Amino acid sequence: MITEQKLQSTEEIVSVPSKQKRTTRLLLVGLVVLLFLAMCGGVIYGFSHLMKQQSALSSTIQAQAGTVSSLEQELETKKSEYDDLKQKNETLESENKALEESNKSLEDKNKNLQSENSSLKVLVSNKAPTAPPPAQSLPVQAFPTTDEYANQKLVALTFDDGPGAYTGRLLDILKSHGVKATFFLQGRNAARYPDLIKRMDSEGHAIGNHSYSHAYLPNLSAAGVAAELEKCNAAIRNAVGYNAVVLRAPYGSSNATVKKAAADAKMPIIHWSIDSLDWKTRNQTAILNTVFNQQGVKDGSIILLHDIHKTTVDAMDSMITRLKNEGYLLVTVPQLLAARKNGGNVGEVYYHGYR
Ligand code: NI
Repeated sequence: MITEQKLQSTEEIVSVPSKQKRTTRLLLVGLVVLLFLAMCGGVIYGFSHLMKQQSALSSTIQAQAGTVSSLEQELETKKSEYDDLKQKNETLESENKALEESNKSLEDKNKNLQSENSSLKVLVSNKAPTAPPPAQSLPVQAFPTTDEYANQKLVALTFDDGPGAYTGRLLDILKSHGVKATFFLQGRNAARYPDLIKRMDSEGHAIGNHSYSHAYLPNLSAAGVAAELEKCNAAIRNAVGYNAVVLRAPYGSSNATVKKAAADAKMPIIHWSIDSLDWKTRNQTAILNTVFNQQGVKDGSIILLHDIHKTTVDAMDSMITRLKNEGYLLVTVPQLLAARKNGGNVGEVYYHGYR
């Protein structure tokens, strides 16, 4: 009671304004409480939201970690696959090498077999002489035949190793006698004197091949012989536009290889029946003596001379005069073969033009 009274009295003391203040304070407190509650709610909400997000994140991370580990696993698998492939590749390479080696040895064996086969073929062909010869070995006529000189004694003068310093004078002598000769040119000299070769051609002499470097042809390979003949022919072609029509092998030395090369180059091989020995005696009188007295000229003789020696050219006026006096017609080697040897065959050796 007393309290109520006191309160009443206080109220009375505080009067209306203090009552209003209390209400306001209550309102404020309420507001504060409300605000607090709201904040608390917000915080709780936010917290729970954060938690949710975190859990979501952690699950994502876990998931990604899972992916990473699976990728790692995959990488590992790929690596091991790569290693396997590498090993397989190495194995294949070594197998390939081994195959190549065996292939080589097979090739070698094949070669051996082929050579054995060809030697067997040779044996077979040797055992069968009745077998027809291959078409290539059939004789090929070098020059068209003629009966123009049927009633005449013929001699062929042949000059080897030139052209040289005395060839021009020799051509003058031949021209003054109106006779024809055959020149067997060394290719290396032919290359030096194209004008003399042109003159031989224009004055009706025959042009022969005496190899390029005066090589001993039987010592050369087939290719070597062919090259010697072709180089000489090239020098002749350069001067007159055609190849030599006859061949004289240096030293009069030929074999099957030389004959084959001559046939390929469409030339008969011409050696001699009279060696003037002009290269040895180097004396005009000795040359004439050798030709007329020691060896003796006859119908169809082929006389070997060398226009690179002065003494030989010196002897020619006398030699031609005497031959003409004895009734000989001086012809070229192609003319002699045409008259006496059915034109001659390419690749065949001739020493004379006897009837
Ligand atoms: Ni010679």
